[in-house]
Amino acid sequence: MESYKRLLLANKAWVKEKLDIRPDYFERMASNQTPEFLWIGCSDSRVPAEEITGTEPGELFVHRNIANLVIHTDLNMLSVLQYAVEVLKVKHIIVCGHYNCGGVKNAMGHQSLGLINKWLRHIKDVYRFHAAELDAIKDEEQRYKRLIELNVVEQLRNVAETSFVQRAWYFEGRPYLHGWVYDVKTGLLKELSMMQPNSELYDIYRYDFSIERRRQTPRSEPSHATNGQTVAQPVSNGAP
Ligand code: CO
Repeated sequence: MESYKRLLLANKAWVKEKLDIRPDYFERMASNQTPEFLWIGCSDSRVPAEEITGTEPGELFVHRNIANLVIHTDLNMLSVLQYAVEVLKVKHIIVCGHYNCGGVKNAMGHQSLGLINKWLRHIKDVYRFHAAELDAIKDEEQRYKRLIELNVVEQLRNVAETSFVQRAWYFEGRPYLHGWVYDVKTGLLKELSMMQPNSELYDIYRYDFSIERRRQTPRSEPSHATNGQTVAQPVSNGAP
């Protein structure tokens, strides 16, 4: 049997399994999606987002690329991010890297690989930002692991530095940002970093939405007014 035919057969078996449990499974699924999570992960075939998190169709909005990068000029990633934040209104964004990531491995080397050099350059930049820490790690395997972790932390910051996320933080007190790493040898996820809504950012990356807030607040509501001006009220970290 051609290997691809196995996938089509497995699909039929999967449909049967779902319908046996719930005859209206697909009808319910077709009406709309309300995922709570945006997953930004690596394209690596060993890191299937839904399977390793035990989530069902409808629960994760997913974007995957080589080495789970969040590049602020990548229209594909930005479109996914904007849709997830502004339309689906996800509560959590997870950036998940993984040990044994080929993208990070190649970025640590010096071989020219063609077009993908351009993509992997972003990981070389992460290395440069953290060169003091990384160069001090003599064991290459450990240095590789640490770069994978630092890459996740940097990509999470890139998510936070977008205006979409900062606007949702300011007006709606969400989403929470999570940086995780997956260990392909154990199957376990590890939490590396978490950013609450309205987390501190380097000042240069911070957008000011107080003017937008003033424009949106009708003049007839004097509750927040001082001297005839409406004062912006940022949403606190604990707000839903
Ligand atoms: Co990878």
